[in-house]
Amino acid sequence: MNSGRSQHVPVLLEEVLELLQPRPEGQYIDGTLGGGGHSAAILERSAPNGRVLGIDADVQALARVRAQFPDYVEQGRLRLVHGNFADLAHIVDEAGVGSVQGVLLDLGFSSDQMENPERGFSFSADGPLDMRLDQSLPVSAEDLVNGASEEELADIFWRYGEERRSRLIARRIVRERARRAITRTAQLAALVAAGVPYKAGAIHPATRIFQALRIAVNHELERLQTVLPQILDVLSTDDGSGAGRMAIITFHSLEDRIVKEFMRREAKDCLCPPRVPVCICGHKARLRILTPRPVAPTEQEVARNPRARSAKLRAAEVLTRS
Ligand SMILES: C[S@@+](CC[C@H](N)C(=O)[O-])C[C@H]1O[C@@H](n2cnc3c(N)ncnc32)[C@H](O)[C@@H]1O
Repeated sequence: MNSGRSQHVPVLLEEVLELLQPRPEGQYIDGTLGGGGHSAAILERSAPNGRVLGIDADVQALARVRAQFPDYVEQGRLRLVHGNFADLAHIVDEAGVGSVQGVLLDLGFSSDQMENPERGFSFSADGPLDMRLDQSLPVSAEDLVNGASEEELADIFWRYGEERRSRLIARRIVRERARRAITRTAQLAALVAAGVPYKAGAIHPATRIFQALRIAVNHELERLQTVLPQILDVLSTDDGSGAGRMAIITFHSLEDRIVKEFMRREAKDCLCPPRVPVCICGHKARLRILTPRPVAPTEQEVARNPRARSAKLRAAEVLTRS
C-alpha cells in the first residue's frame, strides 16, 4: 500500500485516464511529474505491472513524490528522473526504456511550486523573484528583470503575456531598477499594478507579467516545441492491444496552439501548399487525433479547483498502417 494520496487533485484526471487507457504491463512516461497525482492514477489503473517513468525539472517535486509513493518506487513501477522533458529521447535512452504506451504532459507549474513563496511564482505572498522550475538553471526572473534591455522586456511581456501595456511596464521597470534592484515578487507586482484600476475578483494586473517571465525564464515554448516530435518517436505502434497515445494539458493559448498545430500536421499525409498539384513533400501522417476539440474541465472541476479553469487537453494516437 502507498502511504498517501496527492494533496492536490490532478487536473482533468478522469479525462486523461480515459484517453491514455492505462493497461497492465503498459509503460508510460509522465514528463511533468509534479505532485505525482497523474502518475499514481496511471499506476493504479495499470496494476499490477504497469510502469511509469516520471520526469521533473524540479528536484523538490521528485523528493516529495519519492516520499509519498515509496512502494511504487521500491517495486520499480515508478522511476523518477530529474531532467527536462525537452531531453526526452536521451532520458528514455539512458533509462533503458524502449517504446511506451503513453506519454503525458501537464504543462506549467504545480500547486506546490505556486504555494511556496520562496520559488517566486506567485505574488500573493512576497518572495524572491526566482521562477525557475529547475533551480540549477543559471538565469532567474530577477536576472531577467534587472538585466534584460527595455526592448527585450517589452517583447517578453507582449509575446508571452499578450500584455497590451508591455512597453509602459518595461519602461517602468527600467526606471525603477536604476534606483534599486527589483528582487521581490511583491515589489514587481506593485510596480506593474501602480495606477491601474483593479477590481476585486478581476485578474490582477501583474498576472500576465508573471506568466510571461515564467515562460521566458524556463524557455517553456521552446521546450514544448522540442519535445513533441520526440514523444512521437518513443510511442509504440500497435502491439495488438492498441497504439501508443499522447495526452497534453496546456494552460494558455500559446501552448495550446503549438500542440494543436503539431498534432494537425502529424495527422496529415501531405504538407505541400495547396497550389502544388502533386505531393512533393512525401510527408506521411503518423498520428490520429483523438480530440478534434480540446477537452475542457467540467464546471464541477473548476468549482473544486479554480486552477483548472484554463486547462485544455489534447490527445492523439500513433497511426498504424496496414
Ligand atoms: C502542472 S505540474 C504537474 C502536476 C502533476 N500532473 C500532478 O499530478 O501533480 C507541472 C510540473 O512539471 C514540471 N515541468 C514543467 N516544465 C517542465 C519541463 N520542461 N521539464 C520537466 N519538468 C517540467 C514542473 O516543475 C512541475 O512540477
